[in-house]
Amino acid sequence: MTLAELEIAKAASLAEVAAAADAAAVEALRVKYVGRNGSIPALIKAMKDVPKEERPAFGKAVQAWRAEVETALSSKGFTAAEKAVDADLTMPGRWWGLGVKHPLSRVIEESAAIFARLGFTVADGPELENKFNNFTALNTPAHHPSMDRSDTFWFGEDCLLRTQTSPVQIRAMLANKPPVRIICPGRTYRRDTTDATHSANFHQIEGLYVDTKSVSLADLKSVLAYFAKEMMGDGVTVRFRPHFFPFTEPSVEVDFTCHVCKGKGCNVCKQSGWIEVAGAGMVDPRVFKHVGYDPDAVSGYAFGFGVERIAMIKYGIQDIRWLYENDVRFLDQLA
Ligand code: PHE
Repeated sequence: MTLAELEIAKAASLAEVAAAADAAAVEALRVKYVGRNGSIPALIKAMKDVPKEERPAFGKAVQAWRAEVETALSSKGFTAAEKAVDADLTMPGRWWGLGVKHPLSRVIEESAAIFARLGFTVADGPELENKFNNFTALNTPAHHPSMDRSDTFWFGEDCLLRTQTSPVQIRAMLANKPPVRIICPGRTYRRDTTDATHSANFHQIEGLYVDTKSVSLADLKSVLAYFAKEMMGDGVTVRFRPHFFPFTEPSVEVDFTCHVCKGKGCNVCKQSGWIEVAGAGMVDPRVFKHVGYDPDAVSGYAFGFGVERIAMIKYGIQDIRWLYENDVRFLDQLA
């Protein structure tokens, strides 16, 4: 091989290396050029046949070729370790770190699954509502504090960020004839200052059951008792306390047995044995009139509970703000 021929062979070898597409191709070229029986070591062995005066220049050129091919091979980035991994299909894969579902998503999904077992389907509604759906149809009097600009995010006269998921009751009844059996999880908004237990944006799950046969407060209680047990564990049940909501009559506030002390009294429930979680009641006949149902022919109940509230008691979260900070050190603890 002359020096000129060597330069041509070198250019060809470098082009081959540049074109190699995977670790196997790179390895094959390493064997072909710099391996023990490769063409470059063969040239070195054949040096003795090169005329003496040409030997130094030829030797230099061969060494330069070898160095360039080796650099080119290693710059392809297929390391020995990667080759081994490619070859060994039993090696464990790379661990990417699986995420976990956010506690609010988990409470929403679990609730939907529990109520699905009782025949409830999930309904949806917009977060930007009109006055009729959020207030008027829900029998809210004009002087009610929630109508006030200081309590609700208004955008003009007839557009607001819903203050509750209850407008979805109205949407569901306007769109369907009874029986209606829905839950609606979703975001709600109030002009609250954010602190450990309040947030201007939070989540509720609304429930509504309306039927042409007679529906009673006892039905409501049994459904919520089932939910309490499924969500919080055995030994957790419900109690009703009289309350007022414009759209239900009678109205109740719903407490769960404290899941920590099972009703005995502890720090979590402030020694009362009970934790307040929801509002509920029998749908007010005036609401039925607003959606075109005959109040004498149908009856039903509605309930609404706070998703954050359930998540906080279920997972022992002390500050509502932790739910929105996206700190994986907090979220990981709930995995
Ligand atoms: N919408 C009520 C609230 O936000 C809760 C509720 C829902 C009460 C359904 C009764 C029936 O406080």
